[in-house]
Amino acid sequence: MERLPGFRDFYPEPLPHQDVWSADARQFIFDTWRTVARRYNFREYDGPPLEPLELFTTKSGEEIVGQLYNFADKGARNVALRPEMTPTLARMVAAHERNYKKPIKWFALPQLFRYERQQKGRLREHFQFNADIIGEADPAADAELIALLIDTLRAFGLTEQDLVIRLSSRNAWHDFFKHGGGDMAHEYAFYQIVDKLEREAPESSDEKLRALGFSLEAVNTFIEKGAPTVELQSILDNLAARGLRSFAKIDYRVIRGLAYYTGVVFEAFDAKGEFRAIAGGGRYDNLVKLISGDKVNLPALGFGMGDVVLLEILKSRGRLPQFDSHVDVFILIEDEALRPPALKLTQDLRTAGFAVEYPLTPAKSDKQFKRAQELKAGFTAKLESDSYVRIRNLKTREEIVAGFADAANHLK
Ligand code: HAM
Repeated sequence: MERLPGFRDFYPEPLPHQDVWSADARQFIFDTWRTVARRYNFREYDGPPLEPLELFTTKSGEEIVGQLYNFADKGARNVALRPEMTPTLARMVAAHERNYKKPIKWFALPQLFRYERQQKGRLREHFQFNADIIGEADPAADAELIALLIDTLRAFGLTEQDLVIRLSSRNAWHDFFKHGGGDMAHEYAFYQIVDKLEREAPESSDEKLRALGFSLEAVNTFIEKGAPTVELQSILDNLAARGLRSFAKIDYRVIRGLAYYTGVVFEAFDAKGEFRAIAGGGRYDNLVKLISGDKVNLPALGFGMGDVVLLEILKSRGRLPQFDSHVDVFILIEDEALRPPALKLTQDLRTAGFAVEYPLTPAKSDKQFKRAQELKAGFTAKLESDSYVRIRNLKTREEIVAGFADAANHLK
């Protein structure tokens, strides 16, 4: 049986085949995401992977809705696997925001599902680091979030030579559209044309823009000018104070596809432009209000960083660590009569927090030692009697004999 296209099998390293994914690399990415989020005082939350279809159809915008995995469940409810986390977060915050001091700073590592055309960097399932700040309208919150985005990528060893954060604002585009005499009913349609400028033929973009009363030339002139709005300038100044200014540049080609964004938007890319976006996000000040049926009104902003493109970039830049097994001690059982005390020692050392392995069934002593080496164990522990053990450091080759009760101390 084959797995479904666009879905992944995660194997422990060393990988048996180039067509499978590394469970160790995934864990490394998750650990790094969590570590940096906590440095910024973000708290972890999660929601259901299956949601009412309606949560996404009214709020996310055409593109993502066209990619939904949706069906009617056995109770005839229309449901969908989550394609993104933001509507779930808005629902959760709206339900219990009074229990939390503002600004709320939360993160999650959901698995998301989108029925996309498969291509480089795009699968039908991915994991996404989501970090969001709710309840603060000041651009200081945008800067804090963008700093977290930059620091997360730096924590993987990426530098300003590897990365660029393209900063933009729908407010700037809103003013451009309004002052250019655009019909406000078509504003989102206009944003979608801008969103696709880099992927579509210029003639086709120009034709679509003209239907809304604009030209590609005017749009390109606005992009090239790239004059920061007041809020974007304050974000740049804030990043400069942190020493992170060089990672960001104003780029109005970024406008984001999702329907709910209202202000500052941004995307993170590799500096050479070889890969698709690593992360994207922005302000969505009306979404909580919309999802709560006008009951709760809170400004919000956030970003999502996918694991797929990130992993491609880390691989290409040689930034992934070597993944070895984590065995601290391998217990050698050469005399089967000593198996019961060996099990006792195994248990004691595991309780003390060591990763311990031993032969499950009788085996020749050279085989046991070979296994300890394959597992890159730090130590072997050979039982000398039912209460003494010979501990050997496999790196320094030092040996000592210790009583069972002292074994853990010697290993520390
Ligand atoms: P998004 O731009 O749709 O934003 O996704 C964010 C990131 O997730 C992308 O930059 C990409 O790295 C990754 N990604 C998206 N789709 C796929 C896919 N099919 N395969 C692999 N990776 C993918 C959002 O989802 C927003 N909800 C982010 C956000 C949070 N905005 C505010 N808060």
